[in-house]
Amino acid sequence: MGPPTHGRRLVSEANFIRATRDAGYKTLSTAIAELVDNALQAGATTIHIFVLEARDDNGARQISIAVLDDGHGMARSTLQGALQFGGTERFDDRSGFGRFGMGLPNSSVSQAPRVEVYSWLKQGRVFRVYLDIDEFVNRQRRSIPGPVEASLPRWALRVAGPTGTLVLWTRCDRLKERKASTIGKRLRGALARLYRHVLWRGVHIVVNGEELQPIDPLLRTSDKINGGSVPFGDPLILEVRSPLSEAASTIEVRFTELPVELWHDLATETKRAIGLTGGAGVSVVRYDREIDHGWYFMGEKRKENYDDWWRCEIRFAPELDELFGVTNNKQGINPTPDLRAILEPSLEPIARLLNRRVRQAFERVKESRPSPAAVAASHRDRVLPNIGPDCRRGPGGVAGYQYAIEIHALETPEFFQVRTNGDRIIVVLNEYHPFYHRVYARACNTADQEERFRLESLLLASARAALAARSPAEREWEERHRGLWSDALSAFLSY
Ligand SMILES: Nc1ncnc2c1ncn2[C@@H]1O[C@H](COP(=O)(O)OP(=O)(O)OP(=O)(O)O)[C@@H](O)[C@H]1O
Ligand SMILES: [Mg+2]
Repeated sequence: MGPPTHGRRLVSEANFIRATRDAGYKTLSTAIAELVDNALQAGATTIHIFVLEARDDNGARQISIAVLDDGHGMARSTLQGALQFGGTERFDDRSGFGRFGMGLPNSSVSQAPRVEVYSWLKQGRVFRVYLDIDEFVNRQRRSIPGPVEASLPRWALRVAGPTGTLVLWTRCDRLKERKASTIGKRLRGALARLYRHVLWRGVHIVVNGEELQPIDPLLRTSDKINGGSVPFGDPLILEVRSPLSEAASTIEVRFTELPVELWHDLATETKRAIGLTGGAGVSVVRYDREIDHGWYFMGEKRKENYDDWWRCEIRFAPELDELFGVTNNKQGINPTPDLRAILEPSLEPIARLLNRRVRQAFERVKESRPSPAAVAASHRDRVLPNIGPDCRRGPGGVAGYQYAIEIHALETPEFFQVRTNGDRIIVVLNEYHPFYHRVYARACNTADQEERFRLESLLLASARAALAARSPAEREWEERHRGLWSDALSAFLSY
């Protein structure tokens, strides 16, 4: 029996193209990312994105969006297939961004009813193909018209390179925003993060004349604020086998810790602006572009507010797409149980450790704030008799000692030390002594701050008394006394 002579076409073009419009790009930025990926894969070093605003006959705003690159451009035969669904010369290639032959047509129809692609291998000799949804829906066409010679739009000519490609989406009809300036701003924010690695490599991406500066979700640097996160340990390199080719591939995981001491009291708006608030989780980078961001691979650990204060980035190569569950619109991952079994045992304990370190940093910050006891002691000091010639207090005259409490990791066994700085008495609590965790930190963490007040008053009073030691012998005795007291306390608390 030979093949059936009558049958149905595999695809009904008119319905297919309408259904495909909803194939699911979550945002304009992820759709545009398909065009940027293609430009980068064509070796572009400068990519211009235009958000163009015009008015229709009724005065309503119409937005068109274009991506222009200075990559190697396309030969006529390649251009012919570029808008075909599945049209690619790199089907299932794993050496770059593209592999499905879907990105260009799929992203285009998701945003606009018409797409035009211009490409040139030589200055002044530009070819163009287009796809107009209405022509298919009205059944005027069943195939894509071939390339014809054309000239570039005027606004593109100014920045076009000697070779390159321009993709133009006209009359975008699926946008959430109406104004070109708002759309441009959103795009800039999203792409600066998606393509941070590419921007760090020196590629220029320009949106309506404004060049993108990389945004780092790991907050190693930020142009909006001083300081930055620091790496936590060396990157973790995990060797895995690609389920497809059996070839060895690596997954790279890095962590950073944000500076709690420096940033804890930033204004809420600043925290939001630098991406601190709600930024917890893993940034997943495929090849060179962020493909997803979320609370992945943390096992049983649930996300808490403290987890905003450390970050993680996981990088993998396209040969591991099957493990990560990358689908053809490259907007996210859907990790397989195999991948989770590889990553979770390493990542979950680190996540828990980092959470703990953040919590401790916040405790330290809280405790080093001026304590009410220190304020009260500074105020009340003047009622006490003078304890030494260098005290700058005369009866009924100048104010007495000022008091402060600090917490440090001391190498000595004492549970506290007394330091002076001019007329300031500083009680330095030793973070390593059991007194700190068993007694002091607990008092600080109870809702009733009276206990902390009383405990600190006791320490401040003792520190003042220590200053009464004048002669070297007296001072030596005072230190010996504090050392013995600390040792005994350590023994008594460690039951
Ligand atoms: N900016 C560009 N410069 C040069 N060639 C391009 C450009 N954009 C698209 N092409 C060509 O058009 C083809 C189709 O692009 P498309 O994005 O649809 O598929 P792909 O990149 O091969 O795979 P994927 O679906 O994974 O993105 C590409 O394979 C490439 O040959
Ligand atoms: Mg592509």
